[in-house]
Amino acid sequence: MDLINRPRRLRRTDAVRRLCRETRVSREALIYPIFVDETLSGVRPIESLPGQNHYGLNSVCRAVEACLEHGVKHGILFGLPAEKDACGSSAWADRGVIQQAVRAIKGAYPDFTVITDVCMCEYTDHGHCGILHGHEVDNDETLACLAEIAVSHAAAGADMVAPSDMMDGHVAVLRRALDENGFQNTAIMAYSAKYASAFYGPFRAAAGSAPSFGDRKGYQMDPHNRREALRECALDDGEGADILMVKPALSYLDVIRECAVTFDRPLCAYSVSGEYAMIKAASAAGLVDEERIMCETALSIFRAGADMLITYYAKELADAIAGGVIG
Ligand code: PBG
Repeated sequence: MDLINRPRRLRRTDAVRRLCRETRVSREALIYPIFVDETLSGVRPIESLPGQNHYGLNSVCRAVEACLEHGVKHGILFGLPAEKDACGSSAWADRGVIQQAVRAIKGAYPDFTVITDVCMCEYTDHGHCGILHGHEVDNDETLACLAEIAVSHAAAGADMVAPSDMMDGHVAVLRRALDENGFQNTAIMAYSAKYASAFYGPFRAAAGSAPSFGDRKGYQMDPHNRREALRECALDDGEGADILMVKPALSYLDVIRECAVTFDRPLCAYSVSGEYAMIKAASAAGLVDEERIMCETALSIFRAGADMLITYYAKELADAIAGGVIG
């Protein structure tokens, strides 16, 4: 028995256990997804995501107030437009749902960080993330649209744009468009390693963005691949992304780990709708302790190396941190 290296003496008291924690989590690192529905007045619960809501333009500030009450200071916006067409033109309309929501939020809460999802699938009538030629998304034509979307979000006052489309070259094109239009200070959070995942199911039901035919495997990543994630991150890194992202989180902790040690950029993880819905369902069935599972999964993501986390549990996690359950 090795008497010298026994680790137990570090575990004597709760205070010392806390002192010796290797992973620190902070409310500052949490980002809350907010769904804004242009056709809605007030607030409507999202069926596929128990505990989450759709907000109308007249109530979106309530979502922000709730965040701030819990000490959550950052949000990412997703829009459900009143109109869709083949090229997703409502995505970059000056009076589009996100543009109006950003103005409302930044007008009332200028210090709340507003990140906008830049993608076309919620705005196209076919539900794909770009401009279609036949049944294929045209990468380069889509880039021009994404640039328009990002600039319109920045013009409305977004602090950061988050391209989730997975088109090649998207960060370079967005960076140039933002700079040319005077938005040098608008940051880019790139969904760099975004897998073609079944975990997006509840989101697509919530955002009305499921593809009407086919799937997204042509532009989202194959879950078999890890090295490819590093290549995707390297591209976005080289094109000047301010923050890299891995999505989903829980089934991709190895990818988070590798990206965290490989790249010299802040790393975000997105704990997506299916991850949240599974915990909700299991706890509603009385099978697991919701708070403990929520905390343990979030910790695993931070422990893997994420610097920040997009999560539908942001407010509850903030409470757990404030209450010392994790920290
Ligand atoms: C838009 C987008 C999606 C998600 C975030 N942005 C859906 C998708 O790619 O199909 C999913 C988020 C979640 O599941 O919580 N492209």
